[in-house]
Amino acid sequence: MKYLLLFLGFTFASATLADDGMAILQKRCANCHDLSGPAAQSVQALWQRKGPDLFYAGSKYNREWLEKWLVKPRRIRPAGYHYIQHIKPGKKRDMIDAATLTPHPVLSSDKAEDVAEALMKLKAPAEMMGAAAFKGGSISVSFGEMVFDKFNGCMACHEIEPGYGGLSGPEVYTAAKRYQADYLVSFISSPQAWNPKTPMPNKHVAEPNIQKIVQYLQALAKENWDEKK
Ligand code: HEC
Ligand code: HEC
Repeated sequence: MKYLLLFLGFTFASATLADDGMAILQKRCANCHDLSGPAAQSVQALWQRKGPDLFYAGSKYNREWLEKWLVKPRRIRPAGYHYIQHIKPGKKRDMIDAATLTPHPVLSSDKAEDVAEALMKLKAPAEMMGAAAFKGGSISVSFGEMVFDKFNGCMACHEIEPGYGGLSGPEVYTAAKRYQADYLVSFISSPQAWNPKTPMPNKHVAEPNIQKIVQYLQALAKENWDEKK
């Protein structure tokens, strides 16, 4: 009986943490992030979103990363969420207009814990996730880079280390720290299942190569980028 009470006490505590977290999300985050879905179905609707959707956060993020990032947010998309709004013409090619990028709101570590608890409860509908699963394994960074860059052209929009790679998409060298491996497999196999109007193209990468790309992203994420930047 005593154990049962302890257990009930624990689930109760975690439920109230999530409630507190949800209240913070509604008050301080819902203005820029969609918390209930579905994803934007038109380009216009997507353009009205000021940040990435969070309604499937529990199927996307690694909780540990979430708690740290919310306390100390660092830029992930070098040119902001809608890069078109943050570039200006340069001498040879477009440049990022840093003055138009604003810093992300910061949470105290207590609040970040509550918010992470609430976010991890928001799961993706089954049709978004699909049957994708990461099968494990590892790959060398140099072979991975060939699959990512040479075979599939992914580097045109993604940085594979700070200052190296395209700038219109999110940096990918921290992607495996931020995101669950199954989410990465699913997103790369069908970006449009997650965000129908995403600027990320479906490259129809063969399944074994998607596995290799996720192994590569994991190898990249082993470096301690946060301390290097
Ligand atoms: C003024 C708009 C705005 C508000 C308010 C805001 N965010 Fe964000 N958020 C953004 C933008 C823009 C990004 C993309 C940042 C980047 O790529 O560097 C982002 C990124 C994120 C990410 C990472 C998403 C990803 O997949 O890369 C998380 C998690 C997040 N926000 C959570 C929150 C939480 C929790 C709150 C409330 C405490 C909040 N945000 C409030 C605009 C906002
Ligand atoms: C034309 C530019 C472009 C190319 C080419 C491209 N991506 Fe992306 N990618 C993006 C953009 C933009 C996003 C952000 C998507 C969003 O917010 O909907 C993204 C997101 C991602 C993400 C993170 C998912 C997330 O939710 O933030 C991964 C991982 C990724 N791309 C991998 C790849 C791989 C692997 C390839 C090659 C097969 C590739 N990308 C090719 C533009 C591109």
